[in-house]
Amino acid sequence: MYVKATTADRVKSGRGLGVQLNQLFIGIYNVDGEYFAIGDVCPHMGGTLHHGWLDGCVISCPLHMWEFDVKTGKSVWPGDADLVTYPVKVEGEDILVDIESPPQNENQTS
Ligand code: FES
Repeated sequence: MYVKATTADRVKSGRGLGVQLNQLFIGIYNVDGEYFAIGDVCPHMGGTLHHGWLDGCVISCPLHMWEFDVKTGKSVWPGDADLVTYPVKVEGEDILVDIESPPQNENQTS
């Protein structure tokens, strides 16, 4: 079930935004006008990922620089743990996230 997470004007290109939907902390990212949603809690020591640095489609955790692909949730470095990804769709100005789909990554932690 898709729920409204935010509006497009709040997630500028090349940036991320953190939202809480039900009990889930989710980072929403704008990569060249396309939106992606992944778990926002770093599996290393709980850093808030959307506070990190987005370079292309790779977000670096602000605490110890673990890196994740926001399109796939896959760990880029060090490769230990992947993140949950959530389907995203845009309706008008609204960004909707499906928070009830089955997990989309194996070995996900957040
Ligand atoms: S908490 Fe994210 S890299 Fe350590």
